[in-house]
Amino acid sequence: MEEQDWAQVVAAATRAPSIHNTQPWRFVARPDRLELFLDPDRALPVLDPSARQQVISCGTALEFAVVALAARGWEAEVEELPDAAEPTHLAGVRITPGGEPSADDRALAAAIDHRHTVRAPFEARTVPDDLVQRLQAGARAFGTWLKPITRSEEEVATVFLISRAEEMEQGDPAYLAELEGWLRTDPTAVDGVPIGAVPSGDPHERASNWLIRDFVAGQREQHAFRAAGDPAAPPPEVERPAVVLMGTDGDDRAAWLRSGRALGRVLLQLTSAGLVASPLTQALDWPATRTRMQSRLSLVGHPQMLLRLGYPRQPEPDAPPPAVSGRRPVGDVLRFEPAG
Ligand SMILES: Cc1cc2nc3c(=O)[nH]c(=O)nc-3n(C[C@H](O)[C@H](O)[C@H](O)COP(=O)(O)O)c2cc1C
Repeated sequence: MEEQDWAQVVAAATRAPSIHNTQPWRFVARPDRLELFLDPDRALPVLDPSARQQVISCGTALEFAVVALAARGWEAEVEELPDAAEPTHLAGVRITPGGEPSADDRALAAAIDHRHTVRAPFEARTVPDDLVQRLQAGARAFGTWLKPITRSEEEVATVFLISRAEEMEQGDPAYLAELEGWLRTDPTAVDGVPIGAVPSGDPHERASNWLIRDFVAGQREQHAFRAAGDPAAPPPEVERPAVVLMGTDGDDRAAWLRSGRALGRVLLQLTSAGLVASPLTQALDWPATRTRMQSRLSLVGHPQMLLRLGYPRQPEPDAPPPAVSGRRPVGDVLRFEPAG
Protein backbone atom coordinates (compact mmCIF):
# COMPACT_ATOMS: atom_id res chain seq x y z
CA MET A 1 0.00 0.00 0.00
CA GLU A 2 1.19 3.53 -0.78
CA GLU A 3 2.38 5.85 1.98
CA GLN A 4 -0.54 8.24 1.55
CA ASP A 5 -3.00 5.36 1.98
CA TRP A 6 -1.19 4.20 5.11
CA ALA A 7 -1.39 7.75 6.44
CA GLN A 8 -5.17 7.63 6.02
CA VAL A 9 -5.47 4.22 7.67
CA VAL A 10 -3.33 5.36 10.62
CA ALA A 11 -5.33 8.60 10.88
CA ALA A 12 -8.44 6.40 11.26
CA ALA A 13 -6.65 4.26 13.86
CA THR A 14 -5.76 7.31 15.91
CA ARG A 15 -9.43 8.31 16.14
CA ALA A 16 -9.63 5.49 18.71
CA PRO A 17 -10.46 6.40 22.30
CA SER A 18 -7.57 6.23 24.76
CA ILE A 19 -7.31 6.64 28.50
CA HIS A 20 -7.15 10.43 29.18
CA ASN A 21 -6.67 10.79 25.41
CA THR A 22 -2.98 9.97 25.90
CA GLN A 23 -2.81 8.32 22.44
CA PRO A 24 -0.06 5.98 23.66
CA TRP A 25 0.75 4.53 20.23
CA ARG A 26 3.37 4.58 17.49
CA PHE A 27 3.08 2.99 14.05
CA VAL A 28 5.63 1.83 11.49
CA ALA A 29 4.34 1.14 7.96
CA ARG A 30 5.95 -0.89 5.19
CA PRO A 31 4.24 -1.54 1.84
CA ASP A 32 2.63 -4.78 3.08
CA ARG A 33 2.79 -4.44 6.89
CA LEU A 34 1.90 -2.15 9.75
CA GLU A 35 3.55 -2.42 13.19
CA LEU A 36 1.95 -1.06 16.35
CA PHE A 37 4.03 -0.08 19.39
CA LEU A 38 3.08 1.16 22.85
CA ASP A 39 4.72 4.55 23.43
CA PRO A 40 6.07 4.51 27.02
CA ASP A 41 6.66 8.28 26.86
CA ARG A 42 2.90 8.77 27.17
CA ALA A 43 2.46 6.57 30.24
CA LEU A 44 0.23 7.27 33.25
CA PRO A 45 2.42 5.95 36.07
CA VAL A 46 -0.08 6.77 38.84
CA LEU A 47 -3.37 5.68 37.27
CA ASP A 48 -2.06 2.87 35.10
CA PRO A 49 1.33 1.60 36.33
CA SER A 50 0.97 -1.75 34.54
CA ALA A 51 -0.05 0.07 31.30
CA ARG A 52 -3.19 -2.11 31.19
CA GLN A 53 -5.48 0.72 30.10
CA GLN A 54 -2.91 2.01 27.63
CA VAL A 55 -2.56 -1.41 26.00
CA ILE A 56 -6.38 -1.53 25.79
CA SER A 57 -6.28 1.89 24.09
CA CYS A 58 -3.71 0.61 21.58
CA GLY A 59 -5.84 -2.48 20.93
CA THR A 60 -8.74 -0.22 20.02
CA ALA A 61 -6.53 1.74 17.62
CA LEU A 62 -5.41 -1.59 16.11
CA GLU A 63 -9.00 -2.63 15.47
CA PHE A 64 -9.86 0.74 13.98
CA ALA A 65 -6.94 0.18 11.57
CA VAL A 66 -8.26 -3.29 10.68
CA VAL A 67 -11.73 -1.82 10.02
CA ALA A 68 -10.28 1.02 7.91
CA LEU A 69 -8.24 -1.52 5.90
CA ALA A 70 -11.29 -3.74 5.27
CA ALA A 71 -13.26 -0.77 3.93
CA ARG A 72 -10.42 -0.17 1.46
CA GLY A 73 -10.49 -3.77 0.29
CA TRP A 74 -7.51 -5.07 2.30
CA GLU A 75 -7.55 -8.16 4.41
CA ALA A 76 -5.54 -7.81 7.61
CA GLU A 77 -3.82 -10.70 9.33
CA VAL A 78 -2.99 -9.57 12.85
CA GLU A 79 -0.13 -11.07 14.80
CA GLU A 80 -0.47 -10.05 18.44
CA LEU A 81 2.70 -9.48 20.51
CA PRO A 82 4.97 -10.70 17.70
CA ASP A 83 8.27 -10.22 19.57
CA ALA A 84 8.56 -11.70 23.06
CA ALA A 85 11.81 -9.77 23.57
CA GLU A 86 10.09 -6.44 22.86
CA PRO A 87 6.91 -6.08 24.96
CA THR A 88 6.12 -2.62 23.54
CA HIS A 89 5.72 -4.22 20.08
CA LEU A 90 2.01 -4.94 20.43
CA ALA A 91 1.07 -6.12 16.96
CA GLY A 92 2.09 -6.67 13.37
CA VAL A 93 -0.54 -6.47 10.64
CA ARG A 94 0.13 -8.13 7.30
CA ILE A 95 -2.13 -6.98 4.50
CA THR A 96 -3.23 -8.83 1.37
CA PRO A 97 -5.78 -7.73 -1.23
CA GLY A 98 -9.24 -8.78 -0.08
CA GLY A 99 -12.53 -8.80 -1.93
CA GLU A 100 -14.98 -5.99 -2.42
CA PRO A 101 -15.75 -4.46 1.00
CA SER A 102 -19.15 -5.44 2.38
CA ALA A 103 -21.82 -2.93 3.41
CA ASP A 104 -20.96 -3.84 7.00
CA ASP A 105 -17.26 -3.06 6.45
CA ARG A 106 -18.17 0.33 5.05
CA ALA A 107 -20.66 1.12 7.82
CA LEU A 108 -18.15 0.29 10.56
CA ALA A 109 -15.45 2.39 8.89
CA ALA A 110 -17.88 5.29 8.48
CA ALA A 111 -18.57 5.10 12.23
CA ILE A 112 -14.90 5.83 13.06
CA ASP A 113 -15.24 9.59 12.50
CA HIS A 114 -18.62 9.81 14.21
CA ARG A 115 -17.71 8.05 17.45
CA HIS A 116 -16.97 10.23 20.48
CA THR A 117 -17.12 9.56 24.18
CA VAL A 118 -20.40 11.09 25.38
CA ARG A 119 -20.46 11.78 29.11
CA ALA A 120 -23.64 13.88 29.01
CA PRO A 121 -26.91 12.28 30.16
CA PHE A 122 -28.55 9.97 27.66
CA GLU A 123 -32.15 9.84 26.54
CA ALA A 124 -34.61 8.02 28.76
CA ARG A 125 -34.79 5.20 26.23
CA THR A 126 -33.92 1.57 26.84
CA VAL A 127 -31.09 -0.01 24.86
CA PRO A 128 -32.61 -2.96 22.94
CA ASP A 129 -31.60 -6.43 24.11
CA ASP A 130 -30.89 -7.64 20.59
CA LEU A 131 -28.32 -4.87 20.14
CA VAL A 132 -26.61 -5.85 23.40
CA GLN A 133 -26.57 -9.45 22.14
CA ARG A 134 -24.90 -8.35 18.90
CA LEU A 135 -22.28 -6.46 20.89
CA GLN A 136 -21.72 -9.56 23.01
CA ALA A 137 -21.14 -11.62 19.85
CA GLY A 138 -18.74 -8.94 18.57
CA ALA A 139 -16.76 -9.06 21.83
CA ARG A 140 -16.74 -12.87 21.91
CA ALA A 141 -14.97 -12.98 18.55
CA PHE A 142 -11.90 -11.63 20.39
CA GLY A 143 -12.11 -14.09 23.27
CA THR A 144 -13.60 -11.50 25.63
CA TRP A 145 -16.97 -11.51 27.37
CA LEU A 146 -19.45 -8.68 27.78
CA LYS A 147 -21.67 -8.90 30.83
CA PRO A 148 -24.65 -6.54 31.09
CA ILE A 149 -25.04 -5.25 34.66
CA THR A 150 -28.77 -5.78 34.99
CA ARG A 151 -29.47 -7.41 38.36
CA SER A 152 -30.07 -4.78 40.99
CA GLU A 153 -27.58 -6.20 43.49
CA GLU A 154 -24.89 -6.17 40.78
CA GLU A 155 -25.77 -2.61 39.92
CA VAL A 156 -25.64 -1.52 43.56
CA ALA A 157 -22.25 -3.20 44.03
CA THR A 158 -20.81 -1.68 40.85
CA VAL A 159 -22.10 1.82 41.58
CA PHE A 160 -20.69 1.54 45.09
CA LEU A 161 -17.25 0.47 43.85
CA ILE A 162 -17.15 3.28 41.28
CA SER A 163 -17.93 5.89 43.93
CA ARG A 164 -15.44 4.30 46.32
CA ALA A 165 -12.75 4.50 43.62
CA GLU A 166 -13.68 8.11 42.80
CA GLU A 167 -13.36 8.98 46.47
CA MET A 168 -9.91 7.36 46.65
CA GLU A 169 -8.84 9.18 43.49
CA GLN A 170 -10.08 12.57 44.63
CA GLY A 171 -8.07 12.14 47.83
CA ASP A 172 -4.85 11.23 46.03
CA PRO A 173 -2.73 14.28 45.11
CA ALA A 174 -0.54 12.26 42.71
CA TYR A 175 -3.63 11.01 40.83
CA LEU A 176 -5.06 14.54 40.67
CA ALA A 177 -1.77 16.04 39.44
CA GLU A 178 -1.54 13.40 36.69
CA LEU A 179 -5.17 13.96 35.67
CA GLU A 180 -4.73 17.72 35.59
CA GLY A 181 -1.73 17.26 33.31
CA TRP A 182 -4.06 15.71 30.70
CA LEU A 183 -6.96 18.16 31.03
CA ARG A 184 -7.04 20.75 28.22
CA THR A 185 -8.61 24.22 28.14
CA ASP A 186 -7.20 25.05 24.68
CA PRO A 187 -9.76 23.84 22.10
CA THR A 188 -6.99 23.26 19.55
CA ALA A 189 -5.05 20.86 21.82
CA VAL A 190 -3.96 17.71 20.01
CA ASP A 191 -4.21 15.39 23.02
CA GLY A 192 -5.72 15.23 26.51
CA VAL A 193 -9.33 15.61 27.57
CA PRO A 194 -10.98 18.92 26.59
CA ILE A 195 -12.69 20.57 29.49
CA GLY A 196 -15.78 21.09 27.32
CA ALA A 197 -16.18 17.30 26.97
CA VAL A 198 -16.62 16.65 30.68
CA PRO A 199 -19.84 17.23 32.63
CA SER A 200 -20.27 20.62 34.25
CA GLY A 201 -21.61 19.12 37.42
CA ASP A 202 -25.05 20.75 37.29
CA PRO A 203 -27.23 18.22 39.12
CA HIS A 204 -30.26 19.22 37.04
CA GLU A 205 -28.48 17.85 34.00
CA ARG A 206 -28.15 14.34 35.28
CA ALA A 207 -30.27 11.80 37.03
CA SER A 208 -28.32 8.62 37.12
CA ASN A 209 -26.63 6.36 39.60
CA TRP A 210 -23.63 6.06 37.32
CA LEU A 211 -20.88 8.39 38.38
CA ILE A 212 -18.83 9.82 35.52
CA ARG A 213 -15.09 10.24 36.19
CA ASP A 214 -14.59 13.65 37.76
CA PHE A 215 -11.99 15.34 35.58
CA VAL A 216 -12.08 18.71 37.33
CA ALA A 217 -11.00 18.35 40.94
CA GLY A 218 -13.32 20.08 43.37
CA GLN A 219 -16.30 20.08 41.01
CA ARG A 220 -17.35 16.63 41.95
CA GLU A 221 -20.83 16.00 40.73
CA GLN A 222 -23.32 14.34 42.98
CA HIS A 223 -25.15 11.31 41.76
CA ALA A 224 -28.66 10.15 42.41
CA PHE A 225 -31.38 12.74 42.23
CA ARG A 226 -29.87 15.52 44.29
CA ALA A 227 -32.45 18.24 44.95
CA ALA A 228 -30.86 21.61 44.28
CA GLY A 229 -31.66 25.15 43.25
CA ASP A 230 -35.24 25.97 42.42
CA PRO A 231 -37.50 23.47 44.19
CA ALA A 232 -40.21 24.13 41.59
CA ALA A 233 -37.93 23.06 38.74
CA PRO A 234 -38.97 19.76 37.15
CA PRO A 235 -36.86 16.79 38.20
CA PRO A 236 -34.23 15.81 35.67
CA GLU A 237 -35.19 13.11 33.20
CA VAL A 238 -33.83 9.75 34.22
CA GLU A 239 -31.45 8.24 31.69
CA ARG A 240 -31.62 4.51 31.01
CA PRO A 241 -28.13 3.45 30.10
CA ALA A 242 -27.17 -0.14 29.56
CA VAL A 243 -23.98 -0.75 31.52
CA VAL A 244 -21.78 -3.58 30.30
CA LEU A 245 -18.63 -5.01 31.78
CA MET A 246 -16.00 -6.45 29.46
CA GLY A 247 -13.65 -9.10 30.80
CA THR A 248 -11.16 -11.76 29.90
CA ASP A 249 -10.00 -15.11 31.29
CA GLY A 250 -6.39 -13.96 31.55
CA ASP A 251 -4.93 -10.67 32.72
CA ASP A 252 -1.78 -10.10 30.69
CA ARG A 253 -0.79 -7.94 27.74
CA ALA A 254 -2.42 -10.35 25.29
CA ALA A 255 -5.73 -10.16 27.21
CA TRP A 256 -5.54 -6.35 27.39
CA LEU A 257 -4.80 -6.04 23.68
CA ARG A 258 -7.76 -8.29 22.86
CA SER A 259 -10.00 -6.28 25.18
CA GLY A 260 -8.99 -3.18 23.26
CA ARG A 261 -9.76 -4.81 19.93
CA ALA A 262 -13.13 -5.97 21.22
CA LEU A 263 -13.81 -2.49 22.58
CA GLY A 264 -13.03 -1.02 19.15
CA ARG A 265 -15.51 -3.37 17.45
CA VAL A 266 -18.21 -2.83 20.08
CA LEU A 267 -17.91 0.97 19.90
CA LEU A 268 -18.13 1.01 16.11
CA GLN A 269 -21.11 -1.38 16.10
CA LEU A 270 -22.78 0.84 18.64
CA THR A 271 -22.04 4.06 16.75
CA SER A 272 -23.36 2.67 13.51
CA ALA A 273 -26.60 1.77 15.34
CA GLY A 274 -26.94 5.43 16.45
CA LEU A 275 -25.89 4.96 20.08
CA VAL A 276 -23.06 6.47 22.12
CA ALA A 277 -20.96 5.34 25.07
CA SER A 278 -18.70 6.47 27.85
CA PRO A 279 -16.25 4.31 29.77
CA LEU A 280 -16.54 4.30 33.58
CA THR A 281 -13.24 2.76 34.51
CA GLN A 282 -12.54 4.32 37.92
CA ALA A 283 -13.32 1.09 39.79
CA LEU A 284 -10.91 -0.79 37.54
CA ASP A 285 -8.03 1.68 38.08
CA TRP A 286 -7.17 0.34 41.53
CA PRO A 287 -6.30 -3.26 42.40
CA ALA A 288 -8.46 -3.06 45.56
CA THR A 289 -11.72 -2.04 43.85
CA ARG A 290 -10.98 -4.17 40.79
CA THR A 291 -10.56 -7.29 42.92
CA ARG A 292 -13.69 -6.45 44.90
CA MET A 293 -15.63 -6.15 41.68
CA GLN A 294 -14.49 -9.67 40.77
CA SER A 295 -15.79 -11.05 44.03
CA ARG A 296 -18.96 -8.94 44.39
CA LEU A 297 -20.10 -9.85 40.87
CA SER A 298 -18.79 -13.45 41.15
CA LEU A 299 -16.80 -12.98 37.96
CA VAL A 300 -14.91 -15.84 36.43
CA GLY A 301 -12.05 -13.87 34.94
CA HIS A 302 -10.81 -10.30 35.03
CA PRO A 303 -12.80 -7.10 34.46
CA GLN A 304 -11.17 -4.89 31.83
CA MET A 305 -13.66 -2.19 30.82
CA LEU A 306 -16.97 -0.84 32.08
CA LEU A 307 -19.08 0.99 29.51
CA ARG A 308 -22.23 3.06 29.81
CA LEU A 309 -24.28 2.87 26.60
CA GLY A 310 -27.31 4.78 25.45
CA TYR A 311 -29.04 7.06 23.00
CA PRO A 312 -27.69 10.62 22.82
CA ARG A 313 -30.04 13.45 23.69
CA GLN A 314 -30.88 15.90 20.92
CA PRO A 315 -28.88 19.10 21.50
CA GLU A 316 -30.79 22.29 22.36
CA PRO A 317 -31.20 24.39 19.19
CA ASP A 318 -28.85 27.18 20.39
CA ALA A 319 -26.39 24.94 22.27
CA PRO A 320 -22.73 25.21 21.23
CA PRO A 321 -21.40 22.08 19.52
CA PRO A 322 -19.90 19.63 22.02
CA ALA A 323 -16.11 19.77 22.43
CA VAL A 324 -14.31 17.11 20.43
CA SER A 325 -11.04 15.66 21.67
CA GLY A 326 -7.96 16.41 19.55
CA ARG A 327 -5.49 14.06 17.93
CA ARG A 328 -1.78 14.38 17.23
CA PRO A 329 -0.90 14.77 13.54
CA VAL A 330 -0.36 11.42 11.84
CA GLY A 331 3.24 12.43 11.05
CA ASP A 332 3.97 12.43 14.80
CA VAL A 333 2.97 8.80 15.26
CA LEU A 334 3.74 7.14 11.91
CA ARG A 335 7.10 6.28 10.39
CA PHE A 336 7.61 4.63 7.00
CA GLU A 337 10.17 1.94 6.28
CA PRO A 338 10.99 0.16 3.03
CA ALA A 339 9.77 -3.39 2.39
CA GLY A 340 11.48 -6.31 4.04
C1 LIG B 1 -9.12 2.24 28.52
C2 LIG B 1 -9.94 3.51 28.56
C3 LIG B 1 -10.45 3.97 29.79
C4 LIG B 1 -11.23 5.14 29.83
N1 LIG B 1 -11.77 5.54 31.03
C5 LIG B 1 -12.59 6.61 31.07
C6 LIG B 1 -13.26 6.97 32.28
O1 LIG B 1 -13.11 6.34 33.32
N2 LIG B 1 -14.10 8.04 32.25
C7 LIG B 1 -14.32 8.77 31.12
O2 LIG B 1 -15.09 9.71 31.15
N3 LIG B 1 -13.69 8.46 29.93
C8 LIG B 1 -12.86 7.40 29.90
N4 LIG B 1 -12.25 7.03 28.70
C9 LIG B 1 -12.52 7.83 27.49
C10 LIG B 1 -11.35 8.75 27.14
O3 LIG B 1 -11.24 9.82 28.05
C11 LIG B 1 -11.59 9.27 25.70
O4 LIG B 1 -11.54 8.19 24.84
C12 LIG B 1 -10.56 10.28 25.26
O5 LIG B 1 -10.67 11.45 26.02
C13 LIG B 1 -10.71 10.64 23.76
O6 LIG B 1 -12.00 11.13 23.51
P1 LIG B 1 -12.99 10.44 22.46
O7 LIG B 1 -13.28 9.06 22.97
O8 LIG B 1 -14.20 11.32 22.45
O9 LIG B 1 -12.31 10.39 21.12
C14 LIG B 1 -11.48 5.87 28.64
C15 LIG B 1 -10.97 5.40 27.41
C16 LIG B 1 -10.22 4.23 27.37
C17 LIG B 1 -9.72 3.72 26.05
